[in-house]
Amino acid sequence: MINVALPKGRLGEKVYKMFAECGYECPSILENNRKLIFENEEKGVRYFWVKPSDVSIYVERGAADIGVCGKDILLEYEPDVYELLDLDIGKCRMAVAGKKDFYDDNTKTLRVATKFVNIAKTYYQEKCRDIDIIKLNGSIELAPILNLSDVIVDIVETGTTLRENDLEVKEEIVNISARLISNKASFKFKTEEIENISRLLGKKVSEND
Ligand code: PRP
Repeated sequence: MINVALPKGRLGEKVYKMFAECGYECPSILENNRKLIFENEEKGVRYFWVKPSDVSIYVERGAADIGVCGKDILLEYEPDVYELLDLDIGKCRMAVAGKKDFYDDNTKTLRVATKFVNIAKTYYQEKCRDIDIIKLNGSIELAPILNLSDVIVDIVETGTTLRENDLEVKEEIVNISARLISNKASFKFKTEEIENISRLLGKKVSEND
């Protein structure tokens, strides 16, 4: 049995569809209820709906053999897992954003609001820029508007949230997309199944290109 942690939400539904098209279907998952675990014994697969930012924890600790999470989570938490495949969906970018009239004064410490503390620290360290991190858990865009911070480091997908709050991208940090990850021990003991799933998904990705 392969245990798969799927990110709950729209991305997870797309990911499940890809798995199903590769022969790992589990129709009960599409029933609209609040169950979190679904199994297809015949196909040897069990799915868990997991909060997207928790997928790598389930996989790293072996509660799931494989899972799908955004590259942002891998960069932020650096979990000890194998990254097997770029699924080429859930595409967005990590960016620095701020008010339209904001200009960076290098002589002052830059106040950066973000959920992604590690990504922000690494980015500014490489630029030798002195920063003060303000860790938030959501609605990051509020911070520069209320002068809680000078800029934010956050995910930009369509750009709508920034636009509707009169903010703009100042710098691009990195492109993000969904990745297939594997627990290291599972990869050793279930190599064939995991490699097979990765290969089939890889085929799907190139077909969708
Ligand atoms: C993410 C991100 C931005 C928004 C970007 O927020 O933090 O706020 O999506 O998407 P857009 O460019 O398409 O507008 P999320 O929905 O995860 O909520 P939260 O960070 O406020 O919890």
